[in-house]
Amino acid sequence: MLVYEIMPGEKRIIAGVYHLSKVLGRHFALQDINFQLANGEFVFLVGPSGAGKSTLLRMMYMDDIPDSGQVIMGAHVSTMMKRRNIPRLRRRIGIVFQDFRLIEDRNVFENVALAMKVAGIGITEIKHEMTNILTRVGLYHKRYEFPGALSGGEQQRVAIARAVANKPAVLLADEPTGNLDPMVTRGILELLFKINSGGTAVLMATHDVELVKSFGQRIIYLQDGKIVKDKEMLFRGNLRESISNSRVDHRAKKFTEHSIGEDYDGKRGR
Ligand SMILES: Nc1ncnc2c1ncn2[C@@H]1O[C@H](COP(=O)(O)OP(=O)(O)OP(=O)(O)O)[C@@H](O)[C@H]1O
Ligand SMILES: [Mg+2]
Repeated sequence: MLVYEIMPGEKRIIAGVYHLSKVLGRHFALQDINFQLANGEFVFLVGPSGAGKSTLLRMMYMDDIPDSGQVIMGAHVSTMMKRRNIPRLRRRIGIVFQDFRLIEDRNVFENVALAMKVAGIGITEIKHEMTNILTRVGLYHKRYEFPGALSGGEQQRVAIARAVANKPAVLLADEPTGNLDPMVTRGILELLFKINSGGTAVLMATHDVELVKSFGQRIIYLQDGKIVKDKEMLFRGNLRESISNSRVDHRAKKFTEHSIGEDYDGKRGR
């Protein structure tokens, strides 16, 4: 289903999570999660270990499906998502993990280029773009090194380069600085801000409240699977009204209204 295509540069809601709940084991890993991400926004998702950050991001790149509620990522709606369309979604969003997840027997250039090749980009364009990307993350001079020969911070830069190689409208980062010392962490954050200033929306999960408080960005606080605080509170009050005020396409709106149902008053029973 096509809701709308993501157009970097346009101010609109590009990701939305609506009444999302997920049970893992015998507990709610996530319970009635609602928020929206605007194009070009930078948002920290903060919460202690076990709060549900990774689970939430997993739902957003559709590695797992919610028990109820839905995720809208650009043109893709989780409740209508066909398995065969998931790779297409993944090519439109960037994902970065705490443990880098680079291919060990490929060098820096190959690790990043592979993401572009998979997206169907030709070799001439890949070579041209690679110079830009690797320069941007400060690793052009190390393009022929293998991951094992790089520091943690450098490996994460490669992973970020790979994640943004296809110019995604959204970058999801799950504890990207979790394995790095404070100095290197700052460098990675600066890189993420730089990527964000190029128009990519960034949602970065971290347990480190103190780290992110100083930046003045929107922070969504997650605890025990619930949002306990969100500076923006885009959905405060009437969620349906909030959705209709946002510039989500008509078809998405219709679909969302349908799935919210008539009984929304903030304490939907289940
Ligand atoms: N596969 C699973 N089976 C059962 N419970 C799970 C599973 N994965 C996660 N959980 C539980 O879901 C909850 C949320 O986990 P999640 O990994 O999303 O937290 P997190 O905020 O990312 O934590 P951390 O900061 O440690 O990475 C936790 O209570 C966790 O124990
Ligand atoms: Mg986690």
